[in-house]
Amino acid sequence: MPGSFKKHAEHIYNMNVRPDDIWVITFPRSGTTWIQELIWLLENDLDYETAKQTPLFARFPMLETTSQIPDVAFELIKMNFMNLGKFQGLGAAARVPSWESIERASSPRFIKTHLPLSMLPPRLLSTARVVYVARDPRDVVVSYFYLHKMVARNLCKLHFHHFWEAFRRDLLPWTPIIAHTNEAWVQRHHPNLHFLFYEDLIKDLPKEIKRISSFLGRNYSEEQTKQLAHHLSFDNLRNNKTVNNTVGDTVQFVRKGEAGGWKEHFDSKMELQAEEFIVKRLRDLNIKYPTIS
Ligand code: A3P
Repeated sequence: MPGSFKKHAEHIYNMNVRPDDIWVITFPRSGTTWIQELIWLLENDLDYETAKQTPLFARFPMLETTSQIPDVAFELIKMNFMNLGKFQGLGAAARVPSWESIERASSPRFIKTHLPLSMLPPRLLSTARVVYVARDPRDVVVSYFYLHKMVARNLCKLHFHHFWEAFRRDLLPWTPIIAHTNEAWVQRHHPNLHFLFYEDLIKDLPKEIKRISSFLGRNYSEEQTKQLAHHLSFDNLRNNKTVNNTVGDTVQFVRKGEAGGWKEHFDSKMELQAEEFIVKRLRDLNIKYPTIS
């Protein structure tokens, strides 16, 4: 994390967790936005109207908006959304650290974070419900690359090759990715943790909606589940201005939405490196990704 994050880390670690909190934890670009919209709707009686009118970052704020990338992203997002209504102050306080406004927020709170479990309050899992989404790190790094290009204009000329080097040396914010995921994976049987894969959301969204509903103790009909899956489809989210924030015409938060697209970006040397850095280590840790055997 950037040096400026140090002073916030301790506050976050010592934050109060509430039993009716719902936390989404992911490594960046793992389908966070997708799962946030899904969970928010399940927990708010499928209130599509409010969801359509209120930016997701205000309904489901991010905990650590003090680090560089979210700050830049936030400024860009802010340009697109001026009307925050009753959600004013939640995640929208540019200079107040987000954890401060989250501490003051009324219940139930929806909290998004990219921090690994070890940097979060130790009582989190025993107190609140947590959803962790993992994604094939090779697709994550490609998606993360495009995010960087979007939020930092001076990185426009950055080649994927350089970004991959920074990623596998654990130099990027929120890395190391394998440890991040492993911390949640080893807790996957904890009754307050729901662990899922982005690739499974792609494969069978209604099935995953049902599993998450059951984890949250919600019961929706087949028809409601189908309607929610439709709302959450790639094309719909891509065109949804409260969820997808576009900057220019080329790069978007909801970008391609595929599993396996990494192959177009990796040359043979990078593939070998990925075998060592990702595949072998996941195998050693026995983390079973749908796309990695
Ligand atoms: P790509 O850049 O590979 O397309 P996050 O929200 O954690 O930043 O994750 C962003 C990734 O999730 C992007 O991946 C984005 O396209 C993908 N995504 C978001 N909504 C999606 C949906 N409805 N279906 C499939 N992928 C989706």
